[in-house]
Amino acid sequence: MAANFKALDRYIARQIEAVAGYFGHVEWAAIDAIGRWQVERGIGGNLAEIGVHHGKLFFILALLRQAGERALAIDLFKDDGLNTGIHAGRDTAFFDNRARLGIALDEQEVWTVDSLTITPEALHARIGDVRLFSVDGSHAYRNVLHDMRLAEAVLADDGVMIVHDFFGIGWPDVSVAAIHLLTEMKDRLQPFLITQYKLFIARPAAAERYRAMLATNPRLRGAILSERTMFDRPITLLNLARRDLLQRRIKRKLGFYPKKL
Ligand SMILES: C[S@@+](CC[C@H](N)C(=O)[O-])C[C@H]1O[C@@H](n2cnc3c(N)ncnc32)[C@H](O)[C@@H]1O
Repeated sequence: MAANFKALDRYIARQIEAVAGYFGHVEWAAIDAIGRWQVERGIGGNLAEIGVHHGKLFFILALLRQAGERALAIDLFKDDGLNTGIHAGRDTAFFDNRARLGIALDEQEVWTVDSLTITPEALHARIGDVRLFSVDGSHAYRNVLHDMRLAEAVLADDGVMIVHDFFGIGWPDVSVAAIHLLTEMKDRLQPFLITQYKLFIARPAAAERYRAMLATNPRLRGAILSERTMFDRPITLLNLARRDLLQRRIKRKLGFYPKKL
């Protein structure tokens, strides 16, 4: 039976624009396509993010949950005063947005904690094996290394780890830490997809399957895919077609996307 993704469709089509966050259309199209494909292929597991901010990406993960699956939001949930304007209020915005979107989360699915204090064992006890794990917490070298190690420790055989700002020019230590970790774990992790800000990583045995899926996925029909190499292995580069980006911009101007949830 086909999974019911009505709430996810609504979130991606209209509501996501009203949640402050740090990634764009091409990324949410990729995460949406990968998460749904996992469900269609019977790839089970839980969903997790370190670094949730106002929940923009995490709500995709929560809405991808199937029966028996859980999501886990890990963050300090503390306003550091550095995020101003629409990005202010890390202590409350995630909880307000969750309530407005009507996304049910139980106590175990939200973890207010410094991720540096989490051990792989504690994480596994809390969430088990994970099929989609977004790493987007502190962008300091030590934290990225630690958070990617945590994500790897619970990543399911067919799971995907997503590292934010690998290509963000403001965050060189994210790239350095990720390269060190990926080099150390080259037998266990293989990047398979590049988007504007994010690097998508799978187990080496699954990487080609994900690349083949991206090339034929009807949800990415309008996208531009090309091949590059990374660590001497093939990797897919994903961009959205100009027309899609323009359409979105025009709709935004016309007020198609509500500014508030
Ligand atoms: C770039 S924002 C995340 C953006 C979010 N993924 C989105 O979809 O828009 C980084 C987040 O990491 C959190 N963070 C920073 N250091 C952390 C730590 N040591 N442990 C847990 N969370 C941390 C911050 O509170 C912040 O919410």
